[in-house]
Amino acid sequence: PETISIQELANRMSERSVDVIKFLMQQGQMMKPGDIIEPDLAELIASEFGHTVRRVAESDVEEGIFNVADNVENLVPRPPVVTIMGHVDHGKTSLLDAIRKTSVVSGEAGGITQHIGAYQVEQGGQKITFIDTPGHAAFTAMRARGAQATDIAILVVAADDSVMPQTIESINHAKSAGVPIIVAINKIDKPGADASKVRNALLQHEVFVESMGGEVLDVEVSALKGTNLDKLLDAILLQSEILELKADPTRTAEGVVIEAQLDKGRGPVATVLVQTGTLKIGDIVVAGDEWGRVRALITDKGAQLKEALPSMPVEVLGMQGTPLAGDRFAVVESESKAREIAEYRQRVAREKQVAKSAGQRGSLEQMMS
Ligand code: GTP
Ligand code: MG
Repeated sequence: PETISIQELANRMSERSVDVIKFLMQQGQMMKPGDIIEPDLAELIASEFGHTVRRVAESDVEEGIFNVADNVENLVPRPPVVTIMGHVDHGKTSLLDAIRKTSVVSGEAGGITQHIGAYQVEQGGQKITFIDTPGHAAFTAMRARGAQATDIAILVVAADDSVMPQTIESINHAKSAGVPIIVAINKIDKPGADASKVRNALLQHEVFVESMGGEVLDVEVSALKGTNLDKLLDAILLQSEILELKADPTRTAEGVVIEAQLDKGRGPVATVLVQTGTLKIGDIVVAGDEWGRVRALITDKGAQLKEALPSMPVEVLGMQGTPLAGDRFAVVESESKAREIAEYRQRVAREKQVAKSAGQRGSLEQMMS
């Protein structure tokens, strides 16, 4: 079975090893950074630090992929990745649109068609990455598979509608992923708006905002009028400072597919979020069971990049096929390696499908988990 040192586990989680050791101490275990621990303990630690563990399949072809550790010395601050969530029609997309308009950088954009669901804006010289969640189903899929994509969740609640079923679902998603919530009480311009009713309703779902004696930041906004957007952005930066988000831009890129589609003219287009490392033109990537060589990197503003840094959302052109939203991606060293991994995964996926219909799920699920 796979083992890992405390230091390496801390690196992969972008945490400090002293914090991991402190946690172990609280559990009554005295350990050093170099100590090797069992997978079960590693998993426990990871979940304690709010990470989702994905044990890599024990196969030769998978070896090396998703296994490159960040080097602590190379860790530098990265922008927060913020997912906007909430009940249907509470104004998630409107809020994001309004934020992008007021942001200096996106103000320079100028009428380019943007079908990418992820954006980067700048506030006071600091970048923030936003992911819109267009429909609830899409969001769930992304949550389930790309669990590490989000640092902060913005819970949008319309002040005239208060807490609704998908608000509650969103709260539960954020909580189970260990992601801090910032509440945006939207539509305060509306005659029927009642922000304190929202705060009280949130209380019942164990979201304790500051004015109720809790620690969750909340901001009253109007996406329509552009009210308090700066306050919301400041709350995000404040929250992100606490999280001390870091990544290693010197290593090969890894991340998650936000969305992907087959474009008539451009072929498969994958919108990916680079989570660590730097993604470059010419890199060979594997995403889910597809692979490709990066031909172009395009920002949400339509700009062509030579490389994409950690926390940056980009469109990737050059994939051989269309990966799925939520698929992990990583850069590999050669085309043959990429092909091998993709083919292996396609075969496993087929076998899994066959096994499923044959009703012998156990052994194969073990292999994949
Ligand atoms: P889904 O993606 O379908 O879940 O909806 P959404 O949460 O993205 O809501 P969207 O931004 O599409 O807004 C829904 C409706 O609310 C639109 O008609 C918006 O114009 C309106 N709306 C959004 N924000 C505000 C606001 O601050 N004030 C008022 N009065 N209306 C708003
Ligand atoms: Mg929307």
